Amino acid sequence: MTKHFANSRRQVLLGLQALAGLTTLTALGQFRLGWGTTMAQATRNLPKTRETSLGIRADAKGLLYGAAGRYRHLSSDAAYAAAFVQQCSILVPENELKWQALRPAPDQFDFQQADWLANFARAHDLKFRGHTLLWHIGMPKWFKTTVNRQNAEQFLREHITTVVSRYAGTMHSWDVVNEAINPGDGRADGLRNTAWLKFLGPDYIDLAFRLAAAADPQALLVYNDFGLDYDTAEEEARRVATLKLLERLKSQGTPIHALGIQAHLLFGGDATSFNVSKLRSFLKAVADLGLKILITELDVKDQQLPSDISERDDLVAKAYEDYLTTVLSEPAVSAVLTWGLSDCYTWLTSYRPRQDGAPARPLPLDAQLQRKPAWYAMAQAFDQAPQRPTPRI
Ligand code: G3I
Repeated sequence: MTKHFANSRRQVLLGLQALAGLTTLTALGQFRLGWGTTMAQATRNLPKTRETSLGIRADAKGLLYGAAGRYRHLSSDAAYAAAFVQQCSILVPENELKWQALRPAPDQFDFQQADWLANFARAHDLKFRGHTLLWHIGMPKWFKTTVNRQNAEQFLREHITTVVSRYAGTMHSWDVVNEAINPGDGRADGLRNTAWLKFLGPDYIDLAFRLAAAADPQALLVYNDFGLDYDTAEEEARRVATLKLLERLKSQGTPIHALGIQAHLLFGGDATSFNVSKLRSFLKAVADLGLKILITELDVKDQQLPSDISERDDLVAKAYEDYLTTVLSEPAVSAVLTWGLSDCYTWLTSYRPRQDGAPARPLPLDAQLQRKPAWYAMAQAFDQAPQRPTPRI
């Protein structure tokens, strides 16, 4: 994108953000900017040229690139919002579609922040994906004291039907179930011992997918999990259990369309055991089930990397290069999303703090929204990826 376009887009977005203080959420979930202009009208003429962006490079190969974003950041940081729109073709709310955000009380839904993000995506021609309809984390405080064996199915039915129906027809994909595998819990089927399993048995997963499919027949329905990347005994067990789950779901006709691989990469430690052929075999086995594969939460945990910034950035870029080169060689991989776009907003700084106290640097843009070696590693991986034969999904 030329500097001019970038600046004019940034000015328009800055203007939008200045007006953001005037935005009010109408009953229809539409946003009225000041003086009757909707966000869509105000940004309709934004130059869409993102010719060198990651999103455009991925698109050229029939892939989707995007990132997780938060209402708090996209609604208040105009420069960040501009960079997000420039670089991404798809947006996934980092937290705003989780139970904790949507369900202030057992009989209440609060869609304000999720609707804002859905409107932001629509206004800027971004696809929108949902994360996540069923998980054992990110649950509201009332869940533990309210949901039990007798009412769990009713809560699950109401939640998925209400949430998925609200965005039906506009959603690229949903993480229907997140992180249901945990071989360490000792079950023969490798499932995690969650409240949902306790209350509803192993078929809770099939039920969740069927409810989502009934509410939005157009959305791509995804099973999403982590720890599937490295050649360690633990991650091999996770891959085996995941395949077993996917095979069971497919054999019973569950409406599942894709596996989401979170890909929170670890440099140092387990990363020394990155085995290309093992990972490619796993991806092919998933594809052979007729499933698409989305890389859903890509970033690099850099807490074990040196303090020197340029050394750390180069190692992070290497992790992106090695991983994306491997996974993009599998044609079933149709999308790559990073878990955030810029180091200024990453979960890792607080969740995986470095011993030297330095902020994490796991993402393609640095805290000043400048491109890092990781950005160029991703750009090259997209440029060199095999062309996807079918229209991207
Ligand atoms: O919004 C509340 C705020 O009102 C409250 O004051 C504050 C303190 O309790 O909590 C805020 O909610 C926090 C939320 O992020 C929004 O910032 C939660 O406590 C916090 O636990 C939550 O962390 C998120 C975490 O998932 C759990 O939902 C991280 O931001 C998010 O990056 C992380 O993302 C997960 C994926 O969903 C699944 N895969 C792993 C990935 C990393 O853990």
